[in-house]
Amino acid sequence: MNDDRFLIRRAGPLQGEVVIPGAKNSVLKLMAATLLAPGRYELTNVPSIADVPVMANLLQAMGVRADRPSDDVVLLHVPEELRPEAPYELAEQIRASINVLGPLLARCGRALVAMPGGDDFGTRPIDMHVAALESMGAEFQLRHGDLEACAPSGLHGADITLEFPSVGATENVVMAAVGAKGTTVLDNAAREPEIVDLCHFLVAMGAEIEGIGSPTLVVHGVPVSDLRPVAHRVVPDRIEAATYLAAVGVVGGDITVHGAVAGHMEMLLRKLTEMGMVITDTGTGLWAKAPERLRSIDVATLPYPGVATDVKPVLTAMLSVADGVGILTENLFAGRFRYVAELVRLGADIRTDAHHAVVRGVPRLSGAPVRAHDIRAGASLVIAALAAEGTTVISDAHHLDRGYGDMATKLAALGVLVDVD
Ligand code: UD1
Repeated sequence: MNDDRFLIRRAGPLQGEVVIPGAKNSVLKLMAATLLAPGRYELTNVPSIADVPVMANLLQAMGVRADRPSDDVVLLHVPEELRPEAPYELAEQIRASINVLGPLLARCGRALVAMPGGDDFGTRPIDMHVAALESMGAEFQLRHGDLEACAPSGLHGADITLEFPSVGATENVVMAAVGAKGTTVLDNAAREPEIVDLCHFLVAMGAEIEGIGSPTLVVHGVPVSDLRPVAHRVVPDRIEAATYLAAVGVVGGDITVHGAVAGHMEMLLRKLTEMGMVITDTGTGLWAKAPERLRSIDVATLPYPGVATDVKPVLTAMLSVADGVGILTENLFAGRFRYVAELVRLGADIRTDAHHAVVRGVPRLSGAPVRAHDIRAGASLVIAALAAEGTTVISDAHHLDRGYGDMATKLAALGVLVDVD
């Protein structure tokens, strides 16, 4: 889907099945990690989202050959000689472009990375990435929007405690530490399932990592020449799974979400159950049933295993039509309430104050033209549109393509009428 408007009519109770592919926030990092060693990599369960070809183009600019033999497979041929530069035109399109920094420093001893772009939900500094890599021997300079990094004497292991369990900083440190001299102990590391996936990928390549899935990662550096390419299946996308659970949540019905991993979204499932949903682990996915109207709850976003900030926009849409008042607290990205004004256009009753949003549920929303400002904001509008009388026209729908493959087709399989134009 490369179209820019999404037209959604109010849906009745949903029924049907969807299949959840690999996670956006994993596949992009795995692609970056391939820079650590030459050879042929095979990634499977790759989602059909726009960010994958952008990342592939970024790697191609460095000399990597990328092939897509089928929709869910990416083959990467990493050459012996890399050009360790991530140009602005590509880096500015995705936040994950910053993830080439760690592997390039480890493999080439230098990197030039244009400051990354990505979603529009407030400033997203990279000071923690820089400080951690500096303590491992890297030196940085910001010149004309490009971050120039080098490690004149190579990278060495270090004891690092992150101020906050940043996902991106954890990934960059781990990928750099894999090829550094000596041992790196990373404390207060992020432990999202996508980071666990990256660590398993690196271990398969020959890296030595202890404490995977815990807040303390111990990485024993190995010579990068000892690392080898691998084949890997990308971990399923828990945020996409949550989005389809939200869809059935707002209009009722029952659906099966194949591929969703209950263990990756326990806190969220607890919250959805509190709202009145019944969710069962089928062993290969989730079966979810929703009542006619959800109950309001309070939710705070937190690093994993807390409720993910990326699901907050769809939770806000759910609370908009739930029975009662719910308070959402954002603890990761201060500016992440921009989509609220669009929900209000649909008739939602939401007040925001700094990190909080107070959502008074209304029985019905009303379809209107709205705009998607980023991926999850777009998802929030899709969920709200399902519960809105008439038609909702979401413009700038290309943001949805960055995180959701075949969304219109998947919604149609659940009984939702969607037009794209
Ligand atoms: C990743 C995800 C994003 C998700 C987020 C939190 C990708 C491509 N994106 O983003 O979808 O919402 O994790 O789960 O995987 N921070 C600093 N300095 C830094 C780094 C981060 O202050 O050097 C702050 C950020 O501004 C934010 C918080 O730390 O307030 C968490 O950010 P982080 O976990 O790093 O998110 P990303 O890796 O950018």
